[in-house]
Formats: sequence, C-alpha cells, structure tokens
Amino acid sequence: MATAPCDRGEWGSRAGFILAAAGSAIGLGNIWRFPYTTGQNGGAAFLLIYLVCVILLGVPVMIAELTIGRHSRRNPVGAFEAIRPGSRWRIVGFLGVLTGVCILSYYSVIAGVTVGYIFKTVAHSGASYAAFTANPLLMIPLMLLFLALTVLVVQGGVRNGIERWSKILMPLLMLLMVLLIVRSVTLEGAGRGLSFYFKPDFSKVTGKTFLDALGQAFFSLSLGMGAMITYGSYLSKKDDIGTSALCVSFFDTLIAVMAGLLIFPALFAAGMDPAAGPGLVFEVLPVIFARLPGGTLIGAAFFLLLAVAALTSTISLLEVVTAWLVDEKSILRRRAVWIVAAIAFAFGLPSALSLGAVERLGDLPGIGMSFFGFMDWLFGNVMLAVGAVFISIFFGWVWDRRASRAEIEQGCPSYRKCAPAVTYLLKFFCPIAIGIVLFFLFRDLVAAG
Ligand code: PFF
Repeated sequence: MATAPCDRGEWGSRAGFILAAAGSAIGLGNIWRFPYTTGQNGGAAFLLIYLVCVILLGVPVMIAELTIGRHSRRNPVGAFEAIRPGSRWRIVGFLGVLTGVCILSYYSVIAGVTVGYIFKTVAHSGASYAAFTANPLLMIPLMLLFLALTVLVVQGGVRNGIERWSKILMPLLMLLMVLLIVRSVTLEGAGRGLSFYFKPDFSKVTGKTFLDALGQAFFSLSLGMGAMITYGSYLSKKDDIGTSALCVSFFDTLIAVMAGLLIFPALFAAGMDPAAGPGLVFEVLPVIFARLPGGTLIGAAFFLLLAVAALTSTISLLEVVTAWLVDEKSILRRRAVWIVAAIAFAFGLPSALSLGAVERLGDLPGIGMSFFGFMDWLFGNVMLAVGAVFISIFFGWVWDRRASRAEIEQGCPSYRKCAPAVTYLLKFFCPIAIGIVLFFLFRDLVAAG
C-alpha cells in the first residue's frame, strides 16, 4: 500500500468526526429533497421502502466506504489505487469525483435559494417560489455566494474548518425542527397529512419508487461517490467505524423523517399538493411560519440553519474533489478549492437558469425534465447507485476479506459479531438489489428512446 501523505490532517475527536460526517449527510437532501420525493411517490409506502434501503443498503455501503478510506488514507481515486494498484478500479474513484462536482453544481443552486429565503422571510416578500427561481439576478449571485462560502471553509482544512462548524450548528437545527413540528401537527387539518405520511398505500408503488428510494438513501447518506471514503481517510485507527456508521445513518434518517413530519401535516392543512415537486418545502414552510408568533424570526432562523446544513454538505462535496487534486495532482489546497468551485459554478449556471429563467432549459427536449432536474436525476440518483454497486463489489469480492475485516475490527472489536451479515449484504444483496433497479431503469430508457 502506498504511504499516506503526512499533512492530511485527522479529526480532532470521535464526536467531531461523527458530527462532520453527519453534517455531510444531513443537508438539503433531508429537508428539501426527501419531503418532495416522498410526496411525489405517494407518502407512507415510499417512507417504508426508503427505511429498508437505508438499513440494508446504506449502512453496509457506509461501513465499506469508511473502511476503504481509513485503510488507504486517500481520496477516492487514490484509495482504490492504493488497495488494487494498477487496476481499473481507480475509474470508480474518478466517477465519484465527477459526480461530486456535478452534485455540487446544482446543489449550490438550491442552497443559494435557501440563503435568499432568509432575506425573503425577513423582508416579508410575498413572491412565490416560482417567481423567485425565475429571477436570474437572484439565482446566480446567490449560487456564487454559496460556493464562495464553501470554498472559504474548505480552505481552512479538516479540523478548523469542517469540524468546528458542524459541532455547534447541527444540534441547533434539530431543536428548531422539533419546535416547528409541534406547530405543524397541531394545525387544523394536519391529520390528513399524518395519514398520508404514515398509512402506506402500496398501489402507488412502481419501479420508479424503488429507484427514487434507493437514490434518495444514497444521496441523503452521502454515499456512492466517495465522500465517506474521503471522510474515512481522516479517521484515526482508534476510531470505531461500525458505531460511527450506525450513528450517522441514524441521525440522518431521523432528520429526514422529522422533515416529513414537519412538512406533510402543514401541507395538508393548507390544502396544497404533495406532488408539487422541488418547490414543496419553500412553499409549505412559510405557511407554518405565518401561523407562529414571532414567525418572521423563526422562519429566518430556520432558513439560516438549513443553509448551514447545506454548507456542511457542500463542504464534503468540495472536499472529495479537492482531496483528489491535493493528493494525486499535488495542487495546493488553496488553489484546488478555487479551481473546483469555478468548474462547479460553470456547470451550475444552466441549472440555475433552468428553474424559470430560460424556458428552453426548463424542459429539455426529449428528456421531459429541466436541466436542474436532469442533473439531480443523473448524478443524485443514478450515478450514486452505480457508484454504490461498484463499492460493494469491491469490498465484497475484490478486497482481501481478512484485510478489510482487520481494518474494521481495529477500534471496533465487536464488529466480529456482525461481520458475516455485513459481508453478506455487501457481497450479494447490495449488488443484486441495486443492479435489478438499474436494469429496469435502463430497460425503460431504451424502450422510451
Ligand atoms: N447528503 C447530502 C444531503 O443530504 O444534503 C448531499 C450529499 C453530500 C450527497 C455529499 C452526496 C455527497 F457525497
């Protein structure tokens, strides 16, 4: 195995790592993407399938990624290279890096909207979500601002930048969500929202539901593109990979489930459409804020904390690509972050303009999606699922089982008990289950094309 560069940095403490990894996982995926995807897929049945995906696919893939990262102490490309030198496995790392830039590009667009909504709430502006996103003079500067903020934090390096922020602000977001949930579920007519969210109607389940649930699980847990390989590479050998993976998955899922609990009761109380799509959260939340004493302040605080949650996620997206440039291309960290952000900005422009500003980008011919929607579908769902298949095959079949097991058991001796189950899931269940979903997707695409 190649030796690790000595100045890569390590997490300051175990809690610091868990919070940073949870910071990567918890973000717009939980609070913006999860509710509208659940709404589009009929509610409770989707929630159930999603939870199964998190437990049977998400947790094992997270263990695999963290282990690969800590063992190799490298970015995704270097990690595969270190464990299987000279093989084609490094391509999986490259795909991850590419996926990272592409997700960062459109993710920053919605993150920018979140920042805009802080001011919109304070200014009591009645403009709709559609009107907001159709304004390029808002969308582009906000995206740029968000990317710049991300760069400034990542420049600071692992411990000072990433860890410090996550520690303070994540718990605050959770607290505010609890408060808002209490208001949402006590609104008149909230009951219908609760049954939509908790009473499954399996007649709504289609092949697309499975792809959406699986993609959402990987997106939300930051899996399939090497973000957790990169974060795992900063773990010390004393750290407990198994417990960390469980903790991060648990908190991430808790926040997503809470976001649903926050959105659906208020949505039904206001007589809105659960299948409204990406604007859902931005349309429903103001309804709750309007019915709270001090709603303006609470609303602004919520969007501020959501922006911070998004920031701890964009940090990890940028970090994957930066770590690759720093480790493999010997580019200075300070320079690398700006290069990546500039590329993300260029890719992000068409996404920012596709939400109402430029009609042609809003409905791509032959695809039936906006440019933004297409990027999210391709990179946020499909590519993460593809990455996860390769990572599980690598862990289950390619990497020497004794080596991977020894790596996990360092710092987590009790892993011995669950090792057979995790190995089984990574060897058979993950590749087959994800493979089947991707196969049907491919078949549908061919049939449609
Ligand atoms: N998990 C983040 C969210 O839920 O918002 C998004 C994300 C971050 C996806 C990092 C993938 C990733 F590598």
